[in-house]
Amino acid sequence: MSQTSKIFEADDGLPASEVGVWACEKHDYLSRYLNISRKARQKFLSGRAKSATFVDLFCGSGRARIRNTNEWVDGSAVAAWKISRKGEAPFSTVYISDIDPTLRSACAERLRRLGAPVVELEGDAVAAAKQYVQAVNEYGLNFAFIDPFSLGTLSFEIIQTLSQLKRIDMLIHFSKMDHQRNLGLNLTSEKSDFDALVPGWRDRIDQNRPMPDVRRQIFELWRDMVAEVGLDPSLDVKLITGSRNQHLYWLLIVAKHQLALKFWKEATANEAQGNFFGSLL
Ligand SMILES: C[S@@+](CC[C@H](N)C(=O)[O-])C[C@H]1O[C@@H](n2cnc3c(N)ncnc32)[C@H](O)[C@@H]1O
Repeated sequence: MSQTSKIFEADDGLPASEVGVWACEKHDYLSRYLNISRKARQKFLSGRAKSATFVDLFCGSGRARIRNTNEWVDGSAVAAWKISRKGEAPFSTVYISDIDPTLRSACAERLRRLGAPVVELEGDAVAAAKQYVQAVNEYGLNFAFIDPFSLGTLSFEIIQTLSQLKRIDMLIHFSKMDHQRNLGLNLTSEKSDFDALVPGWRDRIDQNRPMPDVRRQIFELWRDMVAEVGLDPSLDVKLITGSRNQHLYWLLIVAKHQLALKFWKEATANEAQGNFFGSLL
């Protein structure tokens, strides 16, 4: 259930990969949110903590070519850094991680070329989240972008680890396509993606229900578990669709602070909104 993309040399001489055009929409929502939240960041940057950090736990290479159009676009970490600087609230540190060290170091180099204070975190996203929590100022403001290809890599341990921070909000990519396509496999295989996504799920859902019900239960369980670690999962979700209108993934905010939910509402205003549960079926 993982996806890999061929790596090649980009127009700036560093490694990059190809993405679907919908990646632009994802970055657009990330940028909108970071722009709307710039005043909150400024407060922390000029206050006692002097710390407003960003972590991109699945950062990729920081640059990509759009499939079919061949247009070059920034990756999430680069887009996030640029918008934070443009809004005069540049992140005090940009932390990045990717399981592929080639992609991660390309992303780091791109950020350095733009003057970003970048720190690379080693290992997979679970290990990187632990390093991040140890590294940041406990009084600072923190924002995480969690953008895995598949549900199996959206390990709950990441969210649990980040929840230890006093101030942490997260924008999460939850793969609707994966959830729909692989539900049967995840329910029957011994090693299921749900083991990482919603640990203990076998005791907490009724598998004898019709498939749409089971799918909904898994999602509700994930949401409940997020709430159990003291975070608020937004009811406002943005559904990202493919070029043939196929449902790919949801973007949603998981917040420690209510203000983040307000910012997200603003970032997605005037858009067709998916309801968290209504868009499941
Ligand atoms: C959807 S791409 C990220 C794209 C990037 N966030 C952007 O928008 O430009 C997912 C990335 O996750 C990485 N990855 C896969 N499994 C991982 C894991 N367990 N921990 C960290 N990174 C992982 C892949 O190498 C890939 O670069």
